[in-house]
Amino acid sequence: METLTIIQPDDLHLHLRDGAALSSVVAATASQFARAMVMPNLNPPVTTVEQALAYRNRILDSLPSGSRFEPLMTLYLTDNTRADEIAAVADSEHVYAFKYYPAGATTNSDRGVMDLTKAYPLIERMEKLGVPLLVHGEVTDVDVDTFDREQVFIDRLLAPLLRRFTTLKLVFEHITTAQAVQFVTESTGNIAATITPQHLLYNRNSLFNRGLRPHAYCLPVLKRETHRQAVVRAATSNNPRFFLGTDSAPHARLAKENSCGCAGIYSAPCAIELYAEVFEAAGKLDHLEGFASRFGAQFYGLPVNKVFITLVKQDWQVPESFPFADTEIVPIRAGETCHWKLLTNEK
Ligand code: NCD
Ligand code: ZN
Repeated sequence: METLTIIQPDDLHLHLRDGAALSSVVAATASQFARAMVMPNLNPPVTTVEQALAYRNRILDSLPSGSRFEPLMTLYLTDNTRADEIAAVADSEHVYAFKYYPAGATTNSDRGVMDLTKAYPLIERMEKLGVPLLVHGEVTDVDVDTFDREQVFIDRLLAPLLRRFTTLKLVFEHITTAQAVQFVTESTGNIAATITPQHLLYNRNSLFNRGLRPHAYCLPVLKRETHRQAVVRAATSNNPRFFLGTDSAPHARLAKENSCGCAGIYSAPCAIELYAEVFEAAGKLDHLEGFASRFGAQFYGLPVNKVFITLVKQDWQVPESFPFADTEIVPIRAGETCHWKLLTNEK
């Protein structure tokens, strides 16, 4: 049987939620990934190191016994972020970065930044102290077409930002377009990008496949096939600027199957298997380890994990749903087949 053994990967963009929802999903990630960069968009958001450390403890308390999973915490940048919070992050052992959401861009982003230029004094401190800024790279203007919001963000906000802060450590999160790939590839700055499984596997037709498919809806929204191909080329290129971040974003079934459905795809139960499928289809399985297990750690200055995982080429069916708090959640590829299977993972 064909097998693939790689250094255990890290998920450098993850939503874990809180309370009963957190307890429902954290084990799925911990069974695949050694560490994850945990997004701060709780309600209310995680805005201080103190809150992030409390949240980290809740995550650790929700883990199955014996798990060695390490949550890497982030803070939510708001119009009210205090300058000394940046120094606190720089000094913190467990908090790694600030996350920038444009106000109103996505789930629980109402407290996001209204005008990025107003945050420039804070960003200047991040640059000085080497604190990374993680960006949700979409404009939110209602007059900009949803499918263009990433490329307009590059032109209007990201390019000017990086011209001004030339040594800022920045991660362009969950990129979805050829323009983002080109921007990250050609940048002279200290920047990188995360890539999700859904943007590697699916194009926007998946949203309208014989009917409206709420479980394929995430933000940034899936794009056309040419963009998907550009993102696959980037992920599989062995360029250390592109690394794994699932953006696994759990929402209860009824929050998605709704007249105003939430954005977010839950991929934690089969994430590494889906990435393996993409790399295999591209003929680049030998580049999976860099993307999944090395480049993210290198960017954040973390040691590469010492544990290995093994994937086997074996079909298995993803469950139609999983328990989620007092309800249920529908994962990516629900009821369909995965072609790789993570060993040691009871499914
Ligand atoms: C995320 C969520 O639900 O928290 N949703 C998503 O579609 N990706 C928020 C985000 O990362 O945009
Ligand atoms: Zn996200």
